[in-house]
Amino acid sequence: MNVKKQISDFFVERNVSLGDNFVQLHLYTHDKLPEIDPGQFVQIQIPSSIHGWLRIPISIHDAEAEKGKIKLLVQKVGDGSRWISSLHEGAKLNMVLPLGRGFSWPEISLRQEVEDPKNAAFRALLVGGGCGLAPLYYLAKCLEKEGLPFDILVGARDKERLVLANELAEIGPTGICTEDGSVGIKGLVTDHPLWKGVAYTHIYTCGPTPMMKAVAVKAKELKARCEVSLENTMACGLGACLCCVTPDAQGHNVCVCTEGPVFDADELGW
Ligand SMILES: Cc1cc2nc3c(=O)[nH]c(=O)nc-3n(C[C@H](O)[C@H](O)[C@H](O)COP(=O)(O)OP(=O)(O)OC[C@H]3O[C@@H](n4cnc5c(N)ncnc54)[C@H](O)[C@@H]3O)c2cc1C
Ligand code: FES
Repeated sequence: MNVKKQISDFFVERNVSLGDNFVQLHLYTHDKLPEIDPGQFVQIQIPSSIHGWLRIPISIHDAEAEKGKIKLLVQKVGDGSRWISSLHEGAKLNMVLPLGRGFSWPEISLRQEVEDPKNAAFRALLVGGGCGLAPLYYLAKCLEKEGLPFDILVGARDKERLVLANELAEIGPTGICTEDGSVGIKGLVTDHPLWKGVAYTHIYTCGPTPMMKAVAVKAKELKARCEVSLENTMACGLGACLCCVTPDAQGHNVCVCTEGPVFDADELGW
């Protein structure tokens, strides 16, 4: 896990609109970036006239640290995210990064067994919806780079709310579920036939909490390890204010911004 953090000015290279509710921001910095793990996030400074003094946490959606580049996927929900979404080419964003604990995957010794599909030590399913797909996109790219096999499952209420599905399909096999059946399989992500056909060993999920809880139940049935990425409301993002805490399996509070946002589902008091 990368624990080095920094404050850097980034500049908007491109602002790509993805439907009515999302933008994908392509950003670059002149600073040297540390290694960034998938699942880590940034805290963005918003002008105090728009959002008070607190920064906004957003997952790192893609990173090329050696080139000083990252991408963010931003959903327009309130004043802060709308301000970020409105930024044009060349605009400056001040960010603290990389924050939190990201997703994990097996060491090299396990990877050697990957080639035997019936007895694989690692086969992952990445399950997400909405802006929860942002960190899963970067995770998928990292798994692909490592040569680890995975499938992706994207859920949305309907076609209009579906985001990133085409981009994810370029990285790995991608199944789609919509609640109204307007694209892909009709139903929830937990209804998709992928769950029946493949012996997944690792499940990674990010999105609405009810979806992640249902995915964690399915993972338990499969005896697969399940990592979930939480999006609790945050203030400092650095472990100081404790506004982001969540109960663990023993009933103790854990700090989502420093001990997460990614947790083993078994660690949580769900
Ligand atoms: C670790 C982490 C990673 C995140 N990654 C992303 C991301 O990649 N892309 C993205 O668009 N958003 C992400 N979020 C959520 C994002 O931080 C909030 O949407 C943002 O802070 C809202 O600020 P605002 O000023 O636009 O809205 P506000 O005015 O603060 O809130 C507007 C509405 O959004 C709701 N809201 C605020 N924060 C959250 C939240 N965390 N989860 C659900 N609802 C919320 C509020 O309850 C309110 O109804 C992430 C949050 C966390 C903690
Ligand atoms: S947001 Fe302040 S401790 Fe987590």
